[in-house]
Amino acid sequence: MNILVVGSGGREHAICAAFSGSSRVGKVYCANGNAGISQVAECVPINPDEIQKLANFAASNAVDLTFVGGETSLALGIVDEFEKRGLRIIGPTKAAAELEASKAFSKDFMARHAVPTARYRNADSTRAAVAFLNDGVFGDAHSPVVVKASGLAAGKGVVVAANRIEAVEAIQGLASIAGEAAADRIVLEECLIGKEVSLIMFADGEDFALMPPTRDHKRIGESETGPNTGGMGTFTDDALLSPEQTEQVIDEIIKPTLKGCIEEGFPFRGILFLGLMMTYDGPKLLEYNVRSGDPETQSILVRLETDLVDVCEAMLDGRLSKIDIKWKPGCSATVVLAAEGYPYSPRKGDVIRGLADVTEAIVFHAGTARNEAGEFVTSGGRVLVVTATGDTLDAALSTAYRELSKISFEGMQFRRDIGR
Ligand SMILES: Nc1ncnc2c1ncn2[C@@H]1O[C@H](COP(=O)(O)OP(=O)(O)O)[C@@H](O)[C@H]1O
Ligand SMILES: [Mg+2]
Repeated sequence: MNILVVGSGGREHAICAAFSGSSRVGKVYCANGNAGISQVAECVPINPDEIQKLANFAASNAVDLTFVGGETSLALGIVDEFEKRGLRIIGPTKAAAELEASKAFSKDFMARHAVPTARYRNADSTRAAVAFLNDGVFGDAHSPVVVKASGLAAGKGVVVAANRIEAVEAIQGLASIAGEAAADRIVLEECLIGKEVSLIMFADGEDFALMPPTRDHKRIGESETGPNTGGMGTFTDDALLSPEQTEQVIDEIIKPTLKGCIEEGFPFRGILFLGLMMTYDGPKLLEYNVRSGDPETQSILVRLETDLVDVCEAMLDGRLSKIDIKWKPGCSATVVLAAEGYPYSPRKGDVIRGLADVTEAIVFHAGTARNEAGEFVTSGGRVLVVTATGDTLDAALSTAYRELSKISFEGMQFRRDIGR
């Protein structure tokens, strides 16, 4: 069968690689793809927001299954359009994608279905948001408050303010960092304390199958310092959640969520991502994403032993509870190699060396191109993503770091403390 993957980063490279490794797959297309992805898929120049063009491409190239990497196409309703045309696609409908595209909507959804989450207020203006700070829900003037742009902001829409003065500043500056449209509505939240875990699952509308739990590192600097990025590294480790904690998340968060989606008329089919804070008071949901993360996907898919096509078909046919998805035991670790200047203004065009020397890890391309000489060069903020597996987290990390040390390009930056 033929597959179309929508997206152009390291996540989509990992998805394309998983499909191209399937004995059931003939051709893999990727829109847009990148220079690294073109080693495992045929890249087609269509952007993720060009829904009609993507559907036309799938229809005229005998694509049997489309897999969407990122949130942009989902929020625009790519799944509704494909389904209208009878094209098979993995992902939630536009209505279900609101769980990510509108944080205000998702907080109200959690409240309607009694999903444990931080106390919150949704504000329709900066003035209303500032007024909410005084109503006592978020403690006193010295209490931390989390200020969020409601709309999609590519990870730039959240400020954890240390006190009320910082919160007011954050509210007033939100439109300039997150964009006017995203900051049109503002969500204020109580600041939770605990360890963060991301739990991602396949969902078929009624049932779900968990992927290994992950943790990510969002800041550019070691020890979580400096500005936020798209993500500098992740790891999977089953020990991130105890069996009891997993049960609690299933009972208190996952089941009410899937049931709530059915009740509200948008059964969730696709990949559902829970951003969890494990507090002293139990697990609380920080957010939903309606797709897998980047680079969480890279850490997860290297451990998937079942054919991804089989998993996708089970999702589409509502048979997830009937298949046994196998994961490689142990752990995995992923380290991002970013360009000079990332995350502000990454430099492009630096020649990448040493890729062929990497033997024990997998290198996914996030932002690469070829120069006239045919060499790989940097062409994005996050350039390469190095993923390794191991029996323990230490083993996975040490393989990833040993292998990435063979790669170099001018200005290469990476964090040395992923998984620590
Ligand atoms: N209520 C909260 N309490 C404490 N930290 C929070 C809270 N909400 C968000 N955060 C922090 O901010 C990060 C980003 O928030 P999140 O809701 O995941 O938005 P996004 O991923 O869309 O930027 C979280 O990973 C977490 O570290
Ligand atoms: Mg998040």
